[in-house]
Amino acid sequence: MQSNREIVLESTPQGVPAPGNFTLRTAPMPEPRTGEVLCRTRFLSLDPYMRIQIAGRHLSGTVTPGDVMKGETVSEVVHSNVAAFSPGRLVRCMGGWQAYSVHRTEDLYGVADNIDPPSYALSVLGMTGLTAYAGMIWQARVRGGECVVIPAVTGGVGSIAAQLCAARGARVIGIAGSGEKCGYAVESLGAADCIDRRSEDVEARLGELCPEGIDVYFDLVGGPTLDAACRHLAHYGRVVLCGLMAEYNHTDRSPGPDPGLLIGRRAIVSGLVVYDYESRRDEFIRKCLPLLAQGKLKQREDITVGLENAPAAFHRLMSGQNFGKAIVRV
Ligand SMILES: NC(=O)c1ccc[n+]([C@@H]2O[C@H](COP(=O)([O-])OP(=O)(O)OC[C@H]3O[C@@H](n4cnc5c(N)ncnc54)[C@H](OP(=O)(O)O)[C@@H]3O)[C@@H](O)[C@H]2O)c1
Repeated sequence: MQSNREIVLESTPQGVPAPGNFTLRTAPMPEPRTGEVLCRTRFLSLDPYMRIQIAGRHLSGTVTPGDVMKGETVSEVVHSNVAAFSPGRLVRCMGGWQAYSVHRTEDLYGVADNIDPPSYALSVLGMTGLTAYAGMIWQARVRGGECVVIPAVTGGVGSIAAQLCAARGARVIGIAGSGEKCGYAVESLGAADCIDRRSEDVEARLGELCPEGIDVYFDLVGGPTLDAACRHLAHYGRVVLCGLMAEYNHTDRSPGPDPGLLIGRRAIVSGLVVYDYESRRDEFIRKCLPLLAQGKLKQREDITVGLENAPAAFHRLMSGQNFGKAIVRV
């Protein structure tokens, strides 16, 4: 009988998760019961929230040593007696870091044929794309001519946010972790300029590049970058708080920006949780498919091949080495 392969959290990481914090183990093939579907993982999405699950602080649940790592996948149905999910059908599900998984049909979402390549169901037309769309279009309501600052600008969320804002005629200033990433943000994502956070003074550069102030700051990182952006907010500037990349690997939290700054600028600050927009996923896909077809929206995926390499890819993601949406082809 065939067996399953799964990646288990071996030990709780201190700081950036290392490959040694995970183990690849062989397990019996999961067996579907009546009404359940056996799926083979094709693509696994790697996301920063997994680091928060390990730390026991994420609203979707925790992962403790001995548990198989959780994660969203594009999987192929291999065994089913449910007509709607016949073998060969591609589905999106919470397959986890493993080769095979079993699901009830209500937890499976068909991947439409026009989502091509199918990994886009995890990236530009998936959770990270929806986060970008919800943050910039529905929540911040970015308008033409506005100055929008986006850190982690070449990553899964940031790269889509930048292109959506540029397509609306906003002036996008990216922040990224290398000169190569900054070049890509300007040449391929429509950014007017990009600050290299590792070699430049981010706050000073924001002052130079946004002389009239920042109209919208999409906060994907927290920490000193959030503080710097708040110092350069325009009056009535909007801040969408979405992620804390600078803090996930730490146990202590930064105190955050001075509230006096936010009061003085009459700032409008909102938090974003992508789960709140699940009911609008189809609408978001309908809006983005034509942009993809017209080449106005591009997705660079950082693809790692092989389930056994997922821990190393996760290490790269959590240390800022990914270049594009992090995905494992299983
Ligand atoms: N609220 C929600 O519902 C929701 C949903 C999805 C994602 N998110 C959040 O959105 C953010 C981006 O997620 P993603 O999946 O698109 O990841 P990503 O941007 O593809 O990858 C993370 C990037 O963060 C940057 N980074 C890493 N360490 C940093 C540090 N110390 N300071 C500043 N930047 C750092 C790196 O880019 P550079 O090296 O180029 O700076 C890295 O490539 C994460 O914070 C995530 O938790 C939130």
